[in-house]
Amino acid sequence: MKSWKRFAVLGLTAIMAFGFATSNAVAKDVSLYKNSFKSDFDAWRGRGGSEKLEVKKVLGSDGALVISNRNATWNGPIRLLNDVLTPGATYRINVKVSYLDGPTTQTLVLSVQQPLAEGGDSYTNLQSAQVAKNKWTTISVEYTAPANVDKYQPSLYFETPWKPDNEIRPDDLVSICIDEVEIIELNATPAVAQKDIPALHKSFKFPFGAAARPDQMSDASPYNPLLRHFKVLVAENEMKQENLQPSKGKFTFENADKIVNYAQKNNMKLRGHVLVWHSQVPAWFFEGSGAKGMATKDELYKNMKTHIDTVLAHYKGKIDSWDVVNECLEEDGTLRNSKYLQIVGSEEYIENAFRWAREADPNAKLFLNDYGVESAGAKQDGFYELVKRLLAKGVPIDGVGFQCHISMSYPSVKQIKDSIDRFAALGLKVQITELDVSVYASDVDAQKPADNDLLTEQAYYFKDLFTMFEQQYKAKKLDMVMMWGISDDCSWLNDFPVKGRKNYPLFFDHKMQAKPAYWIFVDKKKVSPRKSKPKIDMKKFPRIKAKKGTPTIDGELDAVWQKANNTLFEIKTSGNVKDGSTFKVLWDEKNLYVFADIKDDVLNDASANDHEQDSVEIFIDQKNDKAQAYGNDDGQYRVNFKNRITFNGGNKDLFKAVAKRTDTGYIVEAACPLDSIKQKAGTLVGFDIQINEADKTGTRVGVSNWANGTNLGYRDTSSFGIVELSK
Ligand code: XIL
Repeated sequence: MKSWKRFAVLGLTAIMAFGFATSNAVAKDVSLYKNSFKSDFDAWRGRGGSEKLEVKKVLGSDGALVISNRNATWNGPIRLLNDVLTPGATYRINVKVSYLDGPTTQTLVLSVQQPLAEGGDSYTNLQSAQVAKNKWTTISVEYTAPANVDKYQPSLYFETPWKPDNEIRPDDLVSICIDEVEIIELNATPAVAQKDIPALHKSFKFPFGAAARPDQMSDASPYNPLLRHFKVLVAENEMKQENLQPSKGKFTFENADKIVNYAQKNNMKLRGHVLVWHSQVPAWFFEGSGAKGMATKDELYKNMKTHIDTVLAHYKGKIDSWDVVNECLEEDGTLRNSKYLQIVGSEEYIENAFRWAREADPNAKLFLNDYGVESAGAKQDGFYELVKRLLAKGVPIDGVGFQCHISMSYPSVKQIKDSIDRFAALGLKVQITELDVSVYASDVDAQKPADNDLLTEQAYYFKDLFTMFEQQYKAKKLDMVMMWGISDDCSWLNDFPVKGRKNYPLFFDHKMQAKPAYWIFVDKKKVSPRKSKPKIDMKKFPRIKAKKGTPTIDGELDAVWQKANNTLFEIKTSGNVKDGSTFKVLWDEKNLYVFADIKDDVLNDASANDHEQDSVEIFIDQKNDKAQAYGNDDGQYRVNFKNRITFNGGNKDLFKAVAKRTDTGYIVEAACPLDSIKQKAGTLVGFDIQINEADKTGTRVGVSNWANGTNLGYRDTSSFGIVELSK
């Protein structure tokens, strides 16, 4: 749920407007979290796991959270408060509670649970309320956050009084209802941005900017002082189709114009975002007289052209770069199955958008923008081929935008550099359009405290990245760098893609203060020294030795394979895989060779997902750096029993494999390039090998590995085992 943040901003703006707070902020109660459960229940979940959570119009409300299917007294709704609490601050928690079934009265308990440093949890009952069935009771209670809440994150929860399992009766398991939860920080000092620190953009030669919101343009906005760190602005949302033309022919420029006017007044440049996108576009755009009420191609084109003409006429001479088309590709690099594609049937809609934009404002620089294209892979390849086709057809495209929603662990600075090189070589401008550097490697990472270690590590990532940007700008390969937001508290990465998880991806923190990432460019004495990576104990990984020898990759067991021993796939990663499959390895100056003999009675490649077909996957980390993300030396090579080869990283040109069926299943013989290292006896190479087992319906029913059973080898190399090259 985004609304609590918006609410907090509103709260602050209101405080400013009524004059309670000046730049010497006066303490004030600030509402930080509010949910009246009209549509979603954000990060609330069941404490026991069995509970059913629903937003329902019950007991006269226009939406409340109803928690049924409780199996124990301690079951009920729970929510982490990680995105709300500040160490030492005091809060008032207001909430309405009731229950639906069972006895005429019941006790409901509001409590806080916090992990303890020594393990386990502490439980504090804040209030017990006698509640009448089907009637709302209001609980209002104070809570002071302990000093360690950043590290040991408390949760708020509701339960009925504790009873051992054998004494529980149905009355103890009533369906709890909660509504109008509000958490107010008492005597909070509103955050005030520093005004006396140097403007960050002066640290960079390239134009440096950020995505902004209209409310930030007013002098009264607490965010306003941060704007001077940027030389370029882009509207985070206000120039999207749903905001500029919410209903057909009704253009609403007011909000976007606030940003444009501010930029012009303050001698800043502007980017335009966005003319054609599948998201944040009103439904009417695709409606018309075609089948099922869809627009015909002509109708859609008319809508697109009117939109492009009107918007570009309005901003002519004011905006130098426009994202003409945004995110038009799928992850595999094919055209996104958007309504534009469904209606038009080809990439002609992209070509037309650029042509119409050029006609409407011949001076604007026109960009194709996307995410995930800043590192090598199928999506980047698709993007590259698309751009080449557009250029070959004379479509007026001036550049590509790499959104760059990246993380501290992926991609590497080198990968982004190579990507800039690749597109600059086409003679195109490259802009970094939506940079944020998430502190999480994946969606399964739990919230981390924003401690000095983490923020220092992030600062050094920014340093390496921006040093490369500076070089690419000097080499005339990079044009501009835009941050997606001005401070961490307004980043779209709070609550997304993980609800209730805070992120810290920008230069200014949740209280608008300059972070180590800022100071590393402005005054690096203020930043702690870079920590060297902790040494990894190589003894804890499974290891096999490979002898030297060069087989021919033909699916036959050449005599040289007699040198190698068979190793069993011992780890049952998931499901069922037939026992007895083995593999062996050899190496030479060019490759690591693998011969896998897979026992399998039913071979199937029906699944559309390659990893769910009967196949062998080889994971290689040439430098054996056991990293948190794939680098250039890492690859995942997949070969199915019919010899279909698919990749995730790795060297596609040099990898060779042959698969053949046998009486007992199939074999795969492969040569995996060792092109990033100097091989000699004693060298350690990160390695794992996996069997994907499909049943006769084409469903993957099992996975087996040699080294590691986490099934996360596709994500990073930290779990791979080791092959030691020997004589
Ligand atoms: C995001 C905004 O930051 C959010 O406020 C909004 O709710 C959704 O869109 N790629 C883009 C941007 O091109 O427009 C998106 O912005 C982030 C991903």
